[in-house]
Amino acid sequence: MEELILDKKHDEARQGEAFAPNELSQKEFKQHFYIESYGCQMNFADSEVVASILQGAGFGPTGNQEEADLIFINTCSIREKAEQTVRKRLTTFKSLKRRKKTLLIGVLGCMAERLKSKFLEEEKLVDLVVGPDAYRSLPSLIEEAAGGLKAVNVLLSREETYADIAPVRLDSNGISAFVSIMRGCNNMCSFCVVPFTRGRERSRDPISILAECSDLYENGYREITLLGQNVDSYYYTTPQETSGPVTFASLLEQVARIAPDLLVRFSTSHPKDITDEVLDTMAKYENICKYIHLPVQSGSSRILQLMNRTYTREWYLAKVDRIRSILPDCGISADIIAGFCTEEEKDHQDTLAVMEYCKYDFSYMFYYSERPGTLAARRYKDDVPEKVKKRRLEEIVSLQNRLSLESNKRDIGKTYKVLIEGDSKKDTAAWKARNSQNKVVVFPKENHPFKKGDFVTVVVADCTQGTLKGRILIQ
Ligand code: SAH
Ligand code: SF4
Ligand code: F3S
Repeated sequence: MEELILDKKHDEARQGEAFAPNELSQKEFKQHFYIESYGCQMNFADSEVVASILQGAGFGPTGNQEEADLIFINTCSIREKAEQTVRKRLTTFKSLKRRKKTLLIGVLGCMAERLKSKFLEEEKLVDLVVGPDAYRSLPSLIEEAAGGLKAVNVLLSREETYADIAPVRLDSNGISAFVSIMRGCNNMCSFCVVPFTRGRERSRDPISILAECSDLYENGYREITLLGQNVDSYYYTTPQETSGPVTFASLLEQVARIAPDLLVRFSTSHPKDITDEVLDTMAKYENICKYIHLPVQSGSSRILQLMNRTYTREWYLAKVDRIRSILPDCGISADIIAGFCTEEEKDHQDTLAVMEYCKYDFSYMFYYSERPGTLAARRYKDDVPEKVKKRRLEEIVSLQNRLSLESNKRDIGKTYKVLIEGDSKKDTAAWKARNSQNKVVVFPKENHPFKKGDFVTVVVADCTQGTLKGRILIQ
């Protein structure tokens, strides 16, 4: 059930995608790597950093596992299911290794960090285990592994942001890119493994962020998503404090000023950190998309406290009101967890009521999965039976389905200026785009000479629960 929801919508927790090689791979490389990524956008962005480091060391990308000398799997630990998916995938790679003895298999990312060298005991055919802050050491680890040693580096860092590494955009539409602005997380949500797998929060030098964004713009990109576990707590001071601190609001403004036809998005916002300054900046620039992903997790103040989310239900609702008053047309989505420890029926009803109040345009919905080592695992009993968790999740999902459809129906008749991202998946005679509120809009190409990367005005004529259907308006 969880998979189903993720597959349909979850941009953040994608289920394993391999990078297709781009023109760079046409260059002659003696050896090739294949990389597959799971989990959130941060992991996908990291894989692009890894690709850059590997290319620097003489390895070329390949989209073909059979041809690879090195196979990397960039893993996610957020829920048990995510780890199971990775383990299943590893069995395929291990059978490749049985056929090709020189093949090296590397595990990267959050599972590598969580399990460390235990991974090598559990998965005998894995050669490298490399945590998210240790990718610079990949070339030397590969050498070690090629020499027959098992190579592990899972050191977390307080400084690493890979600021100077230009990511290799391997699986890109050439229009939209993700730019990492911070790493790690200092929030200690009791259910969450991320602070353990990603380490302390640190912000990347704004100069390198702006340089990367300008470069993307010059190379034809028209949409940038600023990424971090908690972007609103972005805060950069120069080591010598020679200039004043840069906050997320000022970074957002500087990125928006690169060009009026560069769309700017960001993810994810912890409700406690999204300030009026950020909302005012969003209001001021048309090219900053009016969309906020604002994970609520639960609608019950008692559960929120156990989750250590640092806000109450009332506080969260007031934040949503604030967003709506400053940005009346802002899209809002959420993450919701069903069946956290001690959750009762009335807590669950509180969650449903918060969803109704906030009228989320869409949500990413999960049932609670206990993660070893987290505060919740140590302190609370995972006492909601699986059957109840799943039933509550189903109720949450069906409410969200209704809210999404209602939200989309309200858009019928509205016009939007949208960026063409490429062909619609289902119909090559139609374009796919997203509006400012992050809703997918599809519309027939008709005979207009538009192309990917163009902005076009569309009017919404119809919708489904997941998509707006429009037609091009020539003004
Ligand atoms: N940094 C982001 C979230 C990253 S994880 C934020 O704070 O918004 C993405 C989502 O996974 C979380 O928002 C939460 O809803 C879900 N999640 C995290 N740990 C979980 C767990 N142990 N069980 C179920 N869902 C979980
Ligand atoms: Fe996890 Fe909370 Fe940090 Fe998000 S803010 S990554 S849910 S600890
Ligand atoms: Fe998963 Fe790690 Fe992201 S646990 S959600 S890949 S930060």
